[in-house]
Amino acid sequence: MNVLTACELRSKYINFFVSKNHAQIQGKSLLPENDPTVLFTTAGMHPLVPYLLGEEHPAGKRLVNFQKCIRTGDIDSVGDKSHLTFFEMLGNWSLGDYFKEEAIKMSFEFLTSPQWLNIPLEKLGITVFQGEGNIPKDDESAAIWKSLGISENRISYLPREDNFWGPAGATGPCGPDSEMFYYTGDAPCSADCKPGCSCNNWLEIWNDVFMQYNKNADGEYEALKRKCVDTGMGIERTVTVLNGKSSVYDTVIFQPIIAAIENASLCKYTGSDNIDTDRSIRIIADHIRSAVFILGDPKAVSPSNVGAGYVLRRLIRRAVRHGKKLLKSSSGEGINLSVIARVVIDNFKETYPELEENISFIINELDKEEAKFMETLQKGEHEFEKLLPNLLKDPRKIMSGRLAFKLYDTYGFPIELTEELASESGMSVNKDEFDEAFKKHQELSRSQSGQSFKGGLGDQGEMAVKYHSATHLLHKALKMILGDKAAQKGSNITAERLRFDFILDRAMTADEIKKTEDIVNEQIKKDLPIFMETMSIEDAKAAGAIALFGEKYESMVKVYTVGNSNEDFFAKEVCGGPHAERTGALGIFKIQKEQSSSAGVRRIRAVLE
Ligand code: ALA
Repeated sequence: MNVLTACELRSKYINFFVSKNHAQIQGKSLLPENDPTVLFTTAGMHPLVPYLLGEEHPAGKRLVNFQKCIRTGDIDSVGDKSHLTFFEMLGNWSLGDYFKEEAIKMSFEFLTSPQWLNIPLEKLGITVFQGEGNIPKDDESAAIWKSLGISENRISYLPREDNFWGPAGATGPCGPDSEMFYYTGDAPCSADCKPGCSCNNWLEIWNDVFMQYNKNADGEYEALKRKCVDTGMGIERTVTVLNGKSSVYDTVIFQPIIAAIENASLCKYTGSDNIDTDRSIRIIADHIRSAVFILGDPKAVSPSNVGAGYVLRRLIRRAVRHGKKLLKSSSGEGINLSVIARVVIDNFKETYPELEENISFIINELDKEEAKFMETLQKGEHEFEKLLPNLLKDPRKIMSGRLAFKLYDTYGFPIELTEELASESGMSVNKDEFDEAFKKHQELSRSQSGQSFKGGLGDQGEMAVKYHSATHLLHKALKMILGDKAAQKGSNITAERLRFDFILDRAMTADEIKKTEDIVNEQIKKDLPIFMETMSIEDAKAAGAIALFGEKYESMVKVYTVGNSNEDFFAKEVCGGPHAERTGALGIFKIQKEQSSSAGVRRIRAVLE
């Protein structure tokens, strides 16, 4: 069998669609522009959203390209055969030009024609939308597939979770889709074996989305004036199946990276899903590849504690941790991330020259973050040693999970390492208690930032973070003007404004509104630092922190203070974060509206200018 490389697949795809009158356009940055609803470009359609919504594209109505993408939703599944955080997507688009029939016919021709991918018909399975509410079952797409030779018993009709795509962020174009699957076993297991069959051998390789709706900010589906097609073929998966492999890591795309990790760690990669060292090698390979592409992007971010920078930090630190794990089962000297990063750069620079152009930034940032994390680990080890004499007094030799959580929360010390250190001293960690504390902590951050950051981490754009800090200033200012009873009832933040509900049984006067605004702006002008501490809920309340009435808090909470110190501060609140570093970054605060929200509750809408 000839090896089909990613390069060959890219050019076949582009050439095919150019031959069908599509204009090739450039893939865009991994860091999306003007879209606070997502941190990364998650699909090829992402940079094309305005055009899918009706704007004219300068290159015409038929477009084709390849696009680098990051999806972190499945980060915990990385290590299995096919999940990746970074991947490349091939796509073709119709902007109000062709629709279902032509899109499906072209997909079929590219997949099956001997001139193109030459996939035998019996290896293909299809899914279409089964219908829901006002959106009908997609018999039309099924009929087109059947007219091309796909038999009815290879077509699955599936619900919204499977066959309705988008929007990519909180709002935007979306619609029912039809997905193409490849049978990775020898041959379908029965006459009506189709995608979704329990034999688990169907792998999705391509998706044709029939964009018909725009999901608006109120969650409603408006019909698009101009129907569009958006498709996405995953390069790594397609290269996998076309080369007869069962895992993306067994392809030419990953082999050089894995070889470099084997060299550095002296661990052998055997390609098994169940061997810890294999999983660690896959995680390192995936995470370093993602980190290199984020750092090598023209709009690169550095590792940090918010937004895309935080995801980057997690990817790098997880790679370091798995590198350390590998060393325990080998005599290697240790993996230096930048050594592996250079292999990634070498392998992708032809297609993505930006990697070579930004090589010193990539290597430098990786080295810095690796060193910083090593320091964190050392600090954690040091703290652990300080705790040890006391721990050893416990006759059961069990370290409390709460203490392990504190090491995690205060020093960023991973639980696996606490367990490791504990076991070196003949102790174990109460993992259930740790999990419980961890879960509570997550729930806490979710309930505290969940309402304000709908869509989770996705919405934590820079502006949203500023609005979050402004909300704390507003909350405090309202209590100063209206009294302590003016407590928070609800909060909602977007990148454009904040909305704050609080208890008051009458309208505010113009004078009160003006005074509230002035107080907030005064604190912004002072450019006060905003700092975070972890403490018990009792200590937090004793220190004067505002906590939400009726909210369930775990024993340890995060407290954000706006001010120079614990003796000299403006506002202090129990909160999951994140926040701006200083108030000076917020701009000018303006209350646009003060109105009734419900009985005894008022609502303020405010902006930062
Ligand atoms: N936007 C579609 C996807 O990502 C094609 O699957």
